[in-house]
Amino acid sequence: MEEDVKITIIDREGVAHEVDAPTDMNMNLMEIVRSYELAPEGTVGICGGMAMCASCQCYVLSDTPLTEMQDDEEAMLAEAFHVEDNSRLGCQIPITKDLEGLKVQLAPEE
Ligand code: FES
Repeated sequence: MEEDVKITIIDREGVAHEVDAPTDMNMNLMEIVRSYELAPEGTVGICGGMAMCASCQCYVLSDTPLTEMQDDEEAMLAEAFHVEDNSRLGCQIPITKDLEGLKVQLAPEE
């Protein structure tokens, strides 16, 4: 569908998945990971997308322009484990057309 963008998500086993993410369903990256079941049930999106658990942390591998980090995301990442310079919370990344070609890797489980 033309409302979809192609996103590559590398799972926690190191396997890359190219998935179609809809831009017209008000979804975020964490929800895409869950809907394609790229991580075991209950290990991603624990707080339901409130920037309060970091289970949706991922590393951004492409130079795709993303929405600015808000204070709550920054605060959560300041406390999380395995944080790198390119860490983001998937639940704080809305799926938009700008994400075409985005490549991310799921951070290890805490
Ligand atoms: S789902 Fe909890 S911080 Fe993203």
